[in-house]
Amino acid sequence: MGIKLHGWNSMIWWLGVVLHLFFAIADSRNLNGKKDKLNLQSTTKLKLVVMSNGIVDVTITVPDGMVINITYKGSDNLLETQYLENDRGYWDVVWNKTEGNSTTDLLLGTSYKVIIQNTEQIEISFTRTWEIGSDQLAPLNVDKRFVMLRGSPGFYTYTVLERLKGWPAFDMEEGRVVFKLQENKFHYMAISDERKRMMPMYVDRSTGKVLDYKEAVLLTNPTNPEFNGEVDDKYLYSCDNKDNKVYGWVSNDGVGFWMITPSNEFRTGGPFKQDLTSHAGPIVLNMFISRHYTGEDIDLKFHSEEYWKKVLGPVYVYLNSEVSAKTDPSVLWNDAKKRMVAEVDSWPYSFPLSKDFLKSDQRGVVTGQLLVFDRFINKKAVSGASAYVGLAQSGSTGSWQYENKGYQFWTQTDASGNFVIKNVVPGTYTLFACVPGTLGDYKHASDIEIAPGSTITLTNVVFEPPRNGATLWEIGIPDRTAAEFFIPNPDPSFKIHQYGVPIEKFRQYGLWTRYKDLYPTTDLIFTIGQSDYKKDWFFAHVTRKVGPGNEFQSTTWQIKFNLENVVEAGNYTLQLALASAQAAELQVRFNDPKSIPHFTTESIGKDNALARHGIHGLYHLYNIGVASNQLVSGNNTIYLTQSRAKGPFNSVMYDYIRLEQPAQ
Ligand SMILES: *[C@@H]1O[C@H](CO)[C@@H](O)[C@H](O)[C@H]1NC(C)=O
Ligand SMILES: *[C@@H]1O[C@H](CO)[C@@H](O)[C@H](O)[C@H]1NC(C)=O
Ligand SMILES: *[C@@H]1O[C@H](CO)[C@@H](O)[C@H](O)[C@H]1NC(C)=O
Ligand SMILES: *[C@@H]1O[C@H](CO)[C@@H](O)[C@H](O)[C@H]1NC(C)=O
Ligand SMILES: *[C@@H]1O[C@H](CO)[C@@H](O)[C@H](O)[C@H]1NC(C)=O
Repeated sequence: MGIKLHGWNSMIWWLGVVLHLFFAIADSRNLNGKKDKLNLQSTTKLKLVVMSNGIVDVTITVPDGMVINITYKGSDNLLETQYLENDRGYWDVVWNKTEGNSTTDLLLGTSYKVIIQNTEQIEISFTRTWEIGSDQLAPLNVDKRFVMLRGSPGFYTYTVLERLKGWPAFDMEEGRVVFKLQENKFHYMAISDERKRMMPMYVDRSTGKVLDYKEAVLLTNPTNPEFNGEVDDKYLYSCDNKDNKVYGWVSNDGVGFWMITPSNEFRTGGPFKQDLTSHAGPIVLNMFISRHYTGEDIDLKFHSEEYWKKVLGPVYVYLNSEVSAKTDPSVLWNDAKKRMVAEVDSWPYSFPLSKDFLKSDQRGVVTGQLLVFDRFINKKAVSGASAYVGLAQSGSTGSWQYENKGYQFWTQTDASGNFVIKNVVPGTYTLFACVPGTLGDYKHASDIEIAPGSTITLTNVVFEPPRNGATLWEIGIPDRTAAEFFIPNPDPSFKIHQYGVPIEKFRQYGLWTRYKDLYPTTDLIFTIGQSDYKKDWFFAHVTRKVGPGNEFQSTTWQIKFNLENVVEAGNYTLQLALASAQAAELQVRFNDPKSIPHFTTESIGKDNALARHGIHGLYHLYNIGVASNQLVSGNNTIYLTQSRAKGPFNSVMYDYIRLEQPAQ
C-alpha cells in the first residue's frame, strides 16, 4: 500500500500518501481492535496529521499547525467546514511595530515534530523560528503544542512564545486560541450557571441593526424569532479572569464542546481582568492577552534589547455527550464543570513535555497570614478574610492590573486571612493583595525570591489601608466595582433575554442612555444622611445626550453634607476610588462649582467597561487632601464633574468615596 509502518508496541506511525490516509485509519482501527489506543497518522502529501485516542480525532495541518477537524466518538467535524483551513481552530497574536499599524500573525509553523508518541500520550509541536528581515511576522519564536492523552475525551494545547535580544521593538495587544464550531449544530451556549442559553446565529447579526458600536447588533430578523428585539454583543458574555474557567457549547445532537482553563497564571492583568469567552458564531475563545476592559496600557511593549519567554496554557478542549442533552443541554454543562474541577486539581499538569512548562517539583510555595490594620476601626490588626492575595512581577502598588509579561499567581485567603500560593514558577515577585470591603491595595515591603521546590512563609503581612482620619461619611462599598449602586433597567426598546435565573443586572446593552431618562435636565444630587447609594447613586457618571444630533454634555454630580464644626488645624481627606474610567477627566470642587478644580484626575481611562457591560474596568485610587478652609461649618457641597463629553462613553464608575476628618 505504500505505507511505512514503525511499530512501538501496539503504536502505529503512518507515513502515507493522500489516497492511503483513510484506508490507514480504517486499517489501524481493525488492527488495534481496541478503541482506546492512541494513534497518530500523517501523510506528507496531504500535509495533515491526525491525533486520535479512539474517542477524539483531531486533524491538524502540517507544518502550519491549524486545527481543521475535530471529531468526537465518530461524529462529523465539529468545526465549521465552510471556513478555510486557517480559519477554524488556530492560535494568533495581534502586534505592531509602528504606531497604529497592528496586524494579525497566525503563528504558522514552519517545522513539525512528534515530541512523544506512546500508549499514554501523543504530543506534537509546530514551530517557527523568527529571522531578521521577516518583517511581516511578529518577532517571536513560536512552539505550538497539541497533546492527547489515553482515555481523555479532548486535547490540550499550549504555546511557548519567545523573543531574543536585538530583535525589533514591538507591541503585542492580543494573543488567543480560537475554535469556530458548526453553526447549524451548536446553538446552546453556557458561560456560568446563570448565563446559559440558546443563542442567535452569526447570520442574524447581518440581518440586524448595528447599534452604538459594531459589536452590538439589534436582532430584527433572527433565525429563531424568539430573539427578535434582543441585542447580540460578544461582550455580554465576558467574565473576570478569576471566574473564567469553563465555557462552551452544546450541539443539537447532544455533543458538548468546552474550553477549560485550569490556571490563570499565564493570563494578564490579575484576577479581575475581564475578557471574552464564547459568543455567537458559534465561537469559543481563550484570550491570553488582550486589551479588553483595560485599554492599551496592558499591551506587551518590548524594547529591542529585551529577552522574553512565556508559556500560554496548556488549556483543555473537553468534549462530552449525553443523549438527554438533546432536550436538556445543561446536563453537559454540569459535567463540564465537574471536569473543570478535576483539571484545576491536577494543575500544574505533569504531562506537557516542553521544558519551558514547569512541573510541580520545579515550582515553589508562599504562605502567610494577611492582617488588616486600620487603627480608626480596630485597635489591633484583624484577619484579612476572603482577600485576594497574589504574586506578580515586581512593581508599584496595584501594578499587577497592568502586568502582562510574567506569570501571576493568585489565591483567596480563608476566614483567618491565611493563604497558600502554590505552584509558583521560580523568579522574583512582589506580593500584592486587596481585601473586599477595604479601600486600596496592599504591596508587600520586600520582593520575594521563589526557588524550585521552596516554601516561603511570610511574616508581617500587614495591610494598613489608606486613611488619614476617622470617617465622616462614605458612599458605596470599597470592592473595586460599581455593582452596589443603582443599575437601571435597559431601554424598553431592547428586549431582555429571559434566562432561567436572573443574571447580573449590569449585563445589558445601553444602560448609559438611561441617565438622561432619570436626570433629563438637572444632575444627580446625593445628600449624606438622606440618600441611599443603592437607589440614588447612578452606577456610572456618564455624559448626557443633548439635541437630536450626536452632541453630548458633561455632567456634574453633587454630594451635599453637613459639617458641624470645621476643624481648622489640619487637612481633611477625600478618598476617591474609581472602578472604571473611559476617556474621562474627573474634576473635584468644594462649595464653588465655578472655581478652578481643587483636584483633577487629568485625562484617564481606556477600559471601556461601560460600553462593554462591565461593572468595573481598572481601579484608580486618589487620596485628595482638602484644606480646612475649603469647607464650612454647616452645609457643604462637593461637585464632581466628568468634563469630557465627546460621546456616550466618556465616563467614570465610582467604587467608593469617603470623607475623612483631619488626623488627630
Ligand atoms: C474529520 O476527521 C474524521 C476522523 O479522522 C474523518 O472521518 C472525517 O472524514 C473528517 N472530516 C472532514 C470533513 O475532513
Ligand atoms: C503600536 O500602536 C500603538 C497604538 O495603537 C502605539 O501606542 C504604540 O507605540 C505602537 N508600538 C510601536 C512599537 O510603535
Ligand atoms: C504595517 O505593517 C505591515 C506588516 O508588517 C507592513 O507591510 C506595512 O508596510 C506597515 N505599514 C506602515 C504604514 O508602517
Ligand atoms: C495640608 O495640606 C497642605 C497642602 O497639601 C499642606 O501644605 C499642609 O502642610 C497640610 N497641613 C497639615 C496640618 O497636614
Ligand atoms: C442644609 O441642608 C439640609 C439638608 O439638605 C437642609 O435641610 C437645610 O435647610 C440646609 N441648611 C441651610 C442653612 O441651608
